[in-house]
Amino acid sequence: MKKNTITLTNNNTGETYEYDILDGTRGHSVVDIRTFFKDFGMFTYDPGYTSTASCESKITFTDGEKGELIYRGINIEELVKNHSYIETCFLLLNNRLPSIDELKAFDLEIRNRSFLHESLRHLFNAFPDNAHPMATLSAAVTALSTFYNDHIDMDKESEYQEMARRIISKIPTIAAFSYRHYLGIPFIYPDIDLGFTKNFLTMMRAYPGGKMGLSQLGHEEIKDVEVRALDTIFTLHADHEQNASTTVVRNIASTGAHPYVAISAGISALWGRAHGGANESVISQLEMIGHVDNVDKFIEKAKDPNDDFRLMGFGHRVYKNFDPRAKILKKLKDELKDELHLDSHLMEIAEKIENIALNDDYFISRKLYPNIDFYSGIILISLKIPKPMFTPIFVIGRTVGWITQWIEFKKDKSSKISRPRQLYKGD
Ligand code: CMC
Repeated sequence: MKKNTITLTNNNTGETYEYDILDGTRGHSVVDIRTFFKDFGMFTYDPGYTSTASCESKITFTDGEKGELIYRGINIEELVKNHSYIETCFLLLNNRLPSIDELKAFDLEIRNRSFLHESLRHLFNAFPDNAHPMATLSAAVTALSTFYNDHIDMDKESEYQEMARRIISKIPTIAAFSYRHYLGIPFIYPDIDLGFTKNFLTMMRAYPGGKMGLSQLGHEEIKDVEVRALDTIFTLHADHEQNASTTVVRNIASTGAHPYVAISAGISALWGRAHGGANESVISQLEMIGHVDNVDKFIEKAKDPNDDFRLMGFGHRVYKNFDPRAKILKKLKDELKDELHLDSHLMEIAEKIENIALNDDYFISRKLYPNIDFYSGIILISLKIPKPMFTPIFVIGRTVGWITQWIEFKKDKSSKISRPRQLYKGD
């Protein structure tokens, strides 16, 4: 009879132990090596966790070969087409889509909770002019934990959920304030008459009194197409299973620290350009390349093993054929071309990079394809989102994912403090 196990033998000693193979509902199986150290007196070694599943989860599934992304059993294409970001938040937190009444109540609560305690407002004055909004955002979310001490000892589902809704609603306000502080312009308070995404755009763009900028044609109102495009971007970023920042959030959850401190650490992890910071780096890189005629030179640099230069927005640890989020954004970018002002100069450079890379053996053999960040920056520019706000936009979308993963960790009775071991080579 076939056994669902793996047998490992130490060829030095002949010791043999058998380990269970655990099958998930989708994707690759895992070998349960939890007793490996007890059995062999050795640790396993896997820098960067390239072969390690760190937890059991029921939230998000990515299939790297098929290029699939699924939240709570629903494909990302279906969510983007038929549901809003706010519905996606409800889905992630509750494991199902809301009814009409549930959606109304959820949306209302998110609007009502979007204001910040006035004392938190003063925190922004402590930061220098031109502080990067990601740094300010991370610090302000840590500071937010001081206002909600009761969130440390939660043990009821209703408490977890309230804490989650609170951070989802306040993040856009903190992000917009971080940006307005960076520019030194007055903060715009949330407008509870507006939905999640339009409210954020308003807090970014409005003048005091909530009015939009004036042109000779009148106030430049936010267009529906802009709201829909940003809502799609938020949905595509809502969760992505056990990536670097989510792993940071889960590691902090394992120590019992405040959930908002865990989110703040997730923000810091996301900032790096190998992760969420890539969206800002893509545009900086396109600007640096400057002209289509320079593209070949930079492609050669990216391929040179002695050069650290990498094409930003290319490659992914999981997706090895295409990134499904990138596919949706590429289509959205083409649709927006006619309706909004897409920077044609940067688009021309991006398209040339994409065409060369998709046909070049270096990129094909390493399965390097454009990822979500390759296209998101170009769309964000057309939505008048400035470059330093690209990664905060990722944060706004991802907060629901982080907090859902945090709740899942806390509710898992088998969870333990994260404490990897090492291979010591020092004196
Ligand atoms: N440009 C040129 N070469 C690359 C690139 C790139 N963007 N990405 C990977 N490579 C090469 C790398 O040099 C290596 O080559 P070799 O085998 O000859 O040594 C090979 O491809 C494998 O790279 P790796 O670093 O081992 O792959 P990884 O899975 O550890 O890293 C990655 C994944 C996303 C960090 C990496 O592809 C990268 O740095 N990309 C650019 C940054 C970027 O766009 N990040 C956003 C990721 S999507 C948003 C998110 O979900 O966080």
